[in-house]
Amino acid sequence: MVKWPEKVTLKEVGPRDGLQNEKAFITTEDKINWINQLSLTGLKYIEISSFVNPKWIPALADALEVAKGIHRVEGVTYAALVPNQKGLERALEANIDEAAIFMSASETHNQKNINKSMQDTFPVLREVVQDSLSAGKTVRGYVSTVFGCPYEGSVDVNSVLRVSETLFDMGISELSLGDTIGVANPKQVQELLELLLQRFPSEKLAMHFHDTRGTALANILASLEMGITNYDGAVGGLGGCPYAPGASGNLATDDLVYMLAGMDIETGVDQEKLFLAAKFIQEKLDRMLPSHNLQARLAI
Ligand code: HMG
Ligand code: MG
Repeated sequence: MVKWPEKVTLKEVGPRDGLQNEKAFITTEDKINWINQLSLTGLKYIEISSFVNPKWIPALADALEVAKGIHRVEGVTYAALVPNQKGLERALEANIDEAAIFMSASETHNQKNINKSMQDTFPVLREVVQDSLSAGKTVRGYVSTVFGCPYEGSVDVNSVLRVSETLFDMGISELSLGDTIGVANPKQVQELLELLLQRFPSEKLAMHFHDTRGTALANILASLEMGITNYDGAVGGLGGCPYAPGASGNLATDDLVYMLAGMDIETGVDQEKLFLAAKFIQEKLDRMLPSHNLQARLAI
């Protein structure tokens, strides 16, 4: 019998990854209302927005107003994406708790997504990490295109290892492994984790699956079996990277919570409140979201 962790931590990326690719602009007031609902679900971590260049990601141009407008619940970490010093200045003004830095394991996606080579990205991120830590903020790192790149296809595992090691060396406290375009399968997940777990403790790794090809929950199960206890999700299954053609929604947090609850794995998240938060954002976007749980509940 395989041993799964008894308890896992879920990191909600819906307000950032979920909305960044949406054509419709969700008003600042609705974003604030939605994040306030999410804060009361039992989720202990919410990525609320992104301090990237608003010309690149117009859907999140109101990051500062959102960060200032939400009601912060004690015990919940409010994080945001930060690509460079300019973004960090705005993130500090917004008083976010944690900065999330990001880069890709493949050269072409990195270039298209942040307009720099991988080599030129390292010094930018190093400075962001140093200044975030000096300002008393923790830093989370993302490595994207871990399981495949929309431009280059398969990605060399040595590149994933090199980026991971460099980001940890900078001082990040956790690394989230991104399946940006949802191509991973459980075998690939286990093989990669076997290598990474020789170098980093399981509690410092998180999995960030997009569900483009329907393999995300299977990949979660593979990761649980490898002892990983941190998982990203987006309520309703929203999400996708605008600079990764073919990328679609994140694994729906509500589908993940449903599965984990049934497996007696503790998340601390109230399924009813999460359902209402998913329903709220579906109504605001005025289209059917990919979450299976949401659609099943609405059909009853
Ligand atoms: P750039 O254009 O190369 O920046 O953008 P630059 O340094 O050359 O500056 C050009 C202009 O942008 C200047 O303004 C800067 O001030 C301004 P101007 O002088 O022309 O008026 N600028 C900024 N303004 C506001 N905030 C900033 C900022 N930085 C520069 N932070 C940059 C470089 C990285 C900013 C740009 O490429 C960018 O914003 N990229 C973000 C793309 C993005 O958000 N992608 C999606 C997130 S990643 C993802 O989804 C994957 C993930 O979910 C994990 C996974 O799934 O794998 C995390
Ligand atoms: Mg993502």
